[in-house]
Amino acid sequence: MDDKKIIFSGIQPTGCITLGNYLGALKNWVSLQHDYHCCFSVVDMHSITVRQDPVALRKRCMEFLAQYLACGIDGEENLVFFQSHVPAHAELAWVLNCNVYMGELSRMTQFKDKSAKHENNINAGLFTYPVLMAADILLYKTDLVPVGSDQKQHLELARDVAIRFNNLYGETFTVPEPFIPKEGARVMSLQDPTSKMSKSDPNVNGFISILDKPEDIARKFKRAVTDSESEVAYREGKDGVNNLLSIYASVTGKTVDEAVAEFAGCGYGVFKERVGEAVAEELRPIRERYEDLMKNKDYLETVYRTGAEKARGITARTMSKVYRKVGFVNR
Ligand code: TRP
Repeated sequence: MDDKKIIFSGIQPTGCITLGNYLGALKNWVSLQHDYHCCFSVVDMHSITVRQDPVALRKRCMEFLAQYLACGIDGEENLVFFQSHVPAHAELAWVLNCNVYMGELSRMTQFKDKSAKHENNINAGLFTYPVLMAADILLYKTDLVPVGSDQKQHLELARDVAIRFNNLYGETFTVPEPFIPKEGARVMSLQDPTSKMSKSDPNVNGFISILDKPEDIARKFKRAVTDSESEVAYREGKDGVNNLLSIYASVTGKTVDEAVAEFAGCGYGVFKERVGEAVAEELRPIRERYEDLMKNKDYLETVYRTGAEKARGITARTMSKVYRKVGFVNR
């Protein structure tokens, strides 16, 4: 083994992959993949904590995999796989479940939000969702987890469980750290710039899918909510404009200051059009690669099969250690 650190991250195959996922996560993953050992999973087991249509889910899982690759993730250099293809995730989740308290899980804000949203399906999986996430992370001796602010509490729980288990049973797990990339924008909704861009936004004009066509991207940016002023400036109270500026900076690789200078004297109409064009330009090659990949099912299958096979090897070693520590008879 070399001394590269290990990164684990995953996206649930629900809705679509948004510009927010791309600028906040995927684009960073691409820049990390050569300097770290990276595991990028399509976390399908997490997604069934909310009812899914089976036919749509299966299709969407493949589409997500293709989008990971289309964004530039190297399916051979990294471990790219479907979570459900690696049984150790469920196995470790069970052991960790026996080392996590109801009280800890009841404090998770995502559980509170989701149970409010899905009142008639508050299932046990939704409650123990963070335990499965902890299993994902701990199985691979992960050092770093790139997470947005909404997942910080879950990562904190993963750390607590790892430390607790190590104290009880002896050194077993690496305690993961959050990884906050230097760059990477927090992309807000185009319709309500005070809340995060979300794929489950009922208003499709609020989010951009990375597969949106240029004309849809143009339309959504044209309708983006700004403010009643007319100056393209980055400052408090200008959430809509700030969001557009940071999206522009993020896709062009410029700083926000450079972006502000570029739009000095521009009206909002032109500004929004230019941001839309820059985004469409950035996403165009991704959509093209995606379309090619979706025609090449054999290649996709090779990627997820080899990924899962390697992942099963790594995680089987972790599991035999864990089972030995808790006192199970050698199988
Ligand atoms: N819970 C994460 C989310 O909704 C997805 C996820 C599952 C994840 N397992 C993970 C992220 C492990 C990082 C590491 O965004």
